[in-house]
Parts: sequence; C-alpha cells; structure tokens
Amino acid sequence: MKKIGIYVHIPFCKKKCKYCDFVSFSGMEDRVEEYFNALFEEISIKSDEIYKNLEVNEESDSVANKYENGKVNKNERVEVDTIYIGGGTPSVVSEKYIEELIYLIHKKFVISETAEITIEVNPGTVSEEKLRNYINLEINRISIGLQSANNELLKLLGRIHTYEEFESTFESARKVGFKNINVDLMIGLPKQSMKDVEESLNKIISKSPEHISVYSLILEEGTEMLELIEKNILKLPDENLEREMYWQVKKNLEEKGYTHYEISNFAKNNYSSKHNMNCWNQHDYLGFGVSAHSYYDGIRYSNITGLKTYIENIKNNTPIYNVVFHENQLKDDMMREYMLLRIKED
Ligand SMILES: C[S@@+](CC[C@H](N)C(=O)[O-])C[C@H]1O[C@@H](n2cnc3c(N)ncnc32)[C@H](O)[C@@H]1O
Ligand code: SF4
Repeated sequence: MKKIGIYVHIPFCKKKCKYCDFVSFSGMEDRVEEYFNALFEEISIKSDEIYKNLEVNEESDSVANKYENGKVNKNERVEVDTIYIGGGTPSVVSEKYIEELIYLIHKKFVISETAEITIEVNPGTVSEEKLRNYINLEINRISIGLQSANNELLKLLGRIHTYEEFESTFESARKVGFKNINVDLMIGLPKQSMKDVEESLNKIISKSPEHISVYSLILEEGTEMLELIEKNILKLPDENLEREMYWQVKKNLEEKGYTHYEISNFAKNNYSSKHNMNCWNQHDYLGFGVSAHSYYDGIRYSNITGLKTYIENIKNNTPIYNVVFHENQLKDDMMREYMLLRIKED
C-alpha cells in the first residue's frame, strides 16, 4: 500500500505580518467562496487522475518497467496517512469550508484510520466552538502560531493577537479534546533579548504542548520587516546572539524531554509530526491550492501563486496552467537526494 500525504493551502489572513512572505492575502474575504470551489475542483481532478492511472497502469506494458525498477508494487493502492491544512491562516475562514474540504478528501481518497490531520490556527481567529467543530471533523492536531510571549514584540511583528489570546486558544484546544498541539516560536527578532526568548520558551513549556517549532527569523524580499531593517529603523540581534538563542532553546527543550528530531522541530516521545517526517523521508505528497507543492512518483511540481489566476484557470477548465513543473527524478536522483537529506540530518 502506497502511503501519501496531502497538503492544502488556505491563503487568507486577517492581516499580513511584517516578516511574512508566505502566499497569504489579507482583505480578500470576497474571494474565499470562489477559492474553495476552485480548490475542491482541483482535489477532484487530481484524485480521479491518480486512481484512474493506477488502474490503467496495472494493465499496461509501460508499468512493467516500473515494477522492475521497484517503483510500483503489484497490489499498490494509495492511502493517505497525513493531511495538513496550512496557510495563510486556515482558521480565519468559516468552518463550513473546512468541513466541506474534509468531507471531499474522505470521498476522494482512502484515509488511514491512524491518519494525522493537522490544521494551523492563529490566536484571535478561533473560538472554542470552532475548535470543537474541528475535533468533530476528526482533525487531531493543531498548530498554533504564537511567535513570542512578549506583547510588545507581537505588536512589532504585526501580529493580530496578544499572548493572553494565545493562552485562551491553547486552553480551549485542550478543553475540546486536542491531545496533540504544536506551538510556533520565533527567535532572532529585532528587539528580542535572550531573556525574552527564555521567558517565551518557559511559558510555552509550562503548557506542555506535544510539539514545538522554533524558527529563526528569515528576512524575506518584499517584506515590511526587510524594509525596516534596511532603513535602520529596526536592528536585528547580532549573529552570535541569534546562534546563542538557538543553542539555548535547544538545550532547554532537550532538558525538558523534547527530542530535536528535525532542524526547527522538537517533540515529546512519539509526537514527531508525521507530515514533517513524510517530506523529509521523500514520501509522496499531493499539494492543493495556490503555491502548494507536490511530489508524486518522482515528479516534483507546484501550483502557481496568483489567487485570481488560479481560480480563473480552474473555472476555464485549464487547470494544467496552474502547474509549474520542477523535476522528474530518476532513481539515481532520488538516491542522491535521499543521501543528502540524511547527511543534513546528521
Ligand atoms: C506559514 S506560517 C502559518 C502559520 C500561521 N498563519 C501563523 O502565522 O501563526 C508558519 C510559521 O512560519 C513561521 N514564519 C513565517 N514567516 C517566517 C520568516 N520570515 N522567518 C521565520 N519564520 C517564519 C512562523 O513561525 C509561522 O508560525
Ligand atoms: S498570520 Fe501567518 S501566514 Fe498570515 S501573514 Fe502572519 S505569519 Fe504569514
């Protein structure tokens, strides 16, 4: 049985954070309905193609070569073992869209009974009721973007929420039954001291999330943050301090029983994210929605980033125009990439 992951991109945010260059838009609420319709269409088209190809391939001569190359097993069927709904801010849209999305994925794919189903949520965009609805949809993992427990820093980053709103989101998530929660923390931020980092980390650890992601700020082209730094309005901590922050975070988390299983990711026993591990281990995954990446049968491709064009291409029955081809890996390329990933990991 071939196991695959699914990634779905929801590109809407209440407000754009100053440092962020992910494909996410604010003030586009009027496009949400159209976007989801296009997204549902893309999921239907791709899943139909995959299952059709499996049947055709089992009959065809060409697939005999694939068996020989060890790429396809005779009884191969596709089963989804992770679904990751990311963004953007998936929690900003009404849960009716998330409900339809989950139903459609269930209708179109075989979902493993032990599948990890994650949704990213931002404090300030979820109520307890919304979280309960996610649980009812069998979403079993949430990822909460906190970034810092210092309200001044949150304001500086352009975040829409306070630390207290994060606390309330976290507590609501536990109350409705989430047993697998990730919290995102950022380091290397302007005006962030080592004390800030330690305080934020201690506050997060005191809540005992199963998983913590720690990201060093990357200054991205075209972001307000880069402009503020270039104009000397804000200053980054120097490189040594940023590295010290990283080692300190790693040390504190390991002492508290979190395993550092991937560059930015720490998890308690048995809580490494299956979604992260799949990407790392070169498992196949299908991405849906603007900018989503896919890797399937050695072919790597992504969707375009333009929201309007993505919707138009689906409406005009030309979904192929949404696809940007990256690479068709041969067995040697796969081996090389596998080795490189292992070296990086060590
Ligand atoms: C794609 S964002 C989506 C999560 C959610 N919208 C949020 O902001 O909480 C995932 C995470 O990437 C991290 N991130 C985004 N932009 C970054 C940047 N320029 N440098 C480092 N980390 C970044 C943040 O920690 C964020 O929580
Ligand atoms: S909420 Fe998340 S995705 Fe949206 S702009 Fe901020 S960091 Fe980016």
